[in-house]
Amino acid sequence: MQKQFKRYLVTCALPYANGPIHIGHLAGVYIPADIYVRYLRLKKRDVKFICGSDEHGVPITIKALQEKKSPQEIVDYYHEINKKSFKDFGISFDIYSRTTSKIHYQTASEFFKKLYEKGILYEKETDQFYDPELKQFLADRYIIGTCPQCSYEMAYGDQCEKCGSSLNPTDLINPRSALTGAQLQLKKTKHWFLPLDKYQDVVKEWLFNNHKDWKINVFGQCKSWLEQGLQPRAVTRDLNWGIPVPLENAQGKVLYVWFDAPIGYISATKELTDKWELYWKDKETCLVHFIGKDNIVFHCIIFPVMLMAEGTYILPENVPANEFLNLEGDKISTSRNWAVWLNEYLEEFPNKQDVLRYVLTSIMPETKDNDFTWKDFQAKNNNELVAILGNFVHRTLTLLNRYFDGKIPLCPEYSNEELQIFNEIYNIKKEIENNIENFRFREALKEFMNIARLGNKYINDNEPWKTYATNPLKTQTTLAICAELCGIISVLGEPFLPFTSVKLKQILNIHNYEWDDVGKKPIFSSGHVVSKPELLFEKIDDSIIEKQISKLYKNKDAKYLPIKDSIDYETFEKLDIRTATIIDVEKVEGTDKLLKVTIDLGFERRTVVSGVAQSYKPNDLIGKQACVVVNLKPKKIRGIVSHGMILFADVNDKYVLISPLEQIQNGKPIK
Ligand code: MF3
Ligand code: ZN
Repeated sequence: MQKQFKRYLVTCALPYANGPIHIGHLAGVYIPADIYVRYLRLKKRDVKFICGSDEHGVPITIKALQEKKSPQEIVDYYHEINKKSFKDFGISFDIYSRTTSKIHYQTASEFFKKLYEKGILYEKETDQFYDPELKQFLADRYIIGTCPQCSYEMAYGDQCEKCGSSLNPTDLINPRSALTGAQLQLKKTKHWFLPLDKYQDVVKEWLFNNHKDWKINVFGQCKSWLEQGLQPRAVTRDLNWGIPVPLENAQGKVLYVWFDAPIGYISATKELTDKWELYWKDKETCLVHFIGKDNIVFHCIIFPVMLMAEGTYILPENVPANEFLNLEGDKISTSRNWAVWLNEYLEEFPNKQDVLRYVLTSIMPETKDNDFTWKDFQAKNNNELVAILGNFVHRTLTLLNRYFDGKIPLCPEYSNEELQIFNEIYNIKKEIENNIENFRFREALKEFMNIARLGNKYINDNEPWKTYATNPLKTQTTLAICAELCGIISVLGEPFLPFTSVKLKQILNIHNYEWDDVGKKPIFSSGHVVSKPELLFEKIDDSIIEKQISKLYKNKDAKYLPIKDSIDYETFEKLDIRTATIIDVEKVEGTDKLLKVTIDLGFERRTVVSGVAQSYKPNDLIGKQACVVVNLKPKKIRGIVSHGMILFADVNDKYVLISPLEQIQNGKPIK
């Protein structure tokens, strides 16, 4: 068991208010946090659950630019949408605040000023890239250029996505603005820096001495940051959207969004309760941050350093960050519209919040990335929620109504079997608690479902529909026990399936029965009246799932690459493209991407190696006509001389052969 604290402060990453919430957010951050908090409340612990919109930062200004709106209009819009989505899915925040609130401006400015006055922040002038068209300094992400390591032309200012090297914008060859395409100017600008390097040792000690028990994925990332050595970080930016730097001579400067956003947790707590200092400054508070893996360094190193530097705050007790959730095998992406949005889900599956909560909990990316597929969603609904949980409850209620008019029968005796069941329930409850307290929500859910599994087995073994004629006392016992199990399901299910729990309690007519009563006293006494059965879950048909899948693929939008630098006609004319027929194809051994393709150009036959083996099987290509760049210099690939380039369209990494509409003589020029 985890150490028990006097009170708990649980935060969830503040989502950017520049787009709606999708299933990846829910599975990674908000559902685990909600399960945890609901559980703490059921255990009667003192807990506050904090979240809100993150409304500053460059991505919001860019969205505003694209939509010809002001940043404020953008965040106002998404703040409301996201607040509603969370409410709709039962994410039970005590407050959903926002970082454009007045109280937050004050809190963040004071925090900055305090660090400044303590002499912790220092001022420094550096050279940064400036976009003359936007009249703005650019964040590293919006600077693109050629990677000095691998020559990829679309590398970002902070990282090359092709070879993975981590970069500084000044490393790029020919740096351009990703927003306007403009050539960039290097200009001097002044900023305030947080000297993370000076905290290297304290952070190390804090993490390594007290928090070795953090999740391995989290601890590992922190360790590698510390091994690389912490570097000072600028905590201000040149931007016209954000919290103004509260100093003189700081016109046009705002707090860096990653400086102000985590302080948003504090401001929201202030807004929620006058006793906010107890939650933030008393050693007996347990502070837990739920986040996704891309936020680890900010919550495990940078924000703790800010809190240490300020001096009066407690530090997080745990940061149970999750990995990412993929969708149908592909990374969730807002810009490619590859996501399941919460608002859309509810339109298509009204009142089925718990189905999504259940499925997302069962595939929660706790230790590694995981995949959501619609087929699996359907299977888990039909084979688990309907067939195991719903079925058990439904059978119990049906039989209670059939034989006893919906009244809980007197339970004359417990045999060993029944005693054993209560023993198992007691263990299951302990397991659920232990797993939740240690942030293992998938395991906790599995244990919870074991109650229904147990119930189904018990009812099948005892066949109360048969014993009713032969041994009615036995039927009474069996159904009284099954009713008790249904009641326990309604109570222990609340953290996972809050809507179902409410509904089931209503049907069973349970009031005031608490989590910790389970295992201590029975829920029902004989004569207690329950209602007629209602379906808790219903089967989802193939056609509905197919509709979702095709909707997903229909909306999948290629991410358009910016146009390359212009060339003149003479340069274009240097390309010699010809028609050819593919006459033979084999896989290149030892690779999973490469195909060795033989083409007939009419005047000669050639071998070309193409990296399309994941899109085409050899037989799919043989006999097809293709377009081939024939004057590309021969190159040896895996020991094979490849002479030429067959043209394919790149559709999100799936390659599609470009073939003439009509059969054409091979070797004809294409221009
Ligand atoms: N908005 C950030 C994101 O979505 C998370 C901010 S968390 C906080 O990645 F600490 F800044 F609040
Ligand atoms: Zn590179």
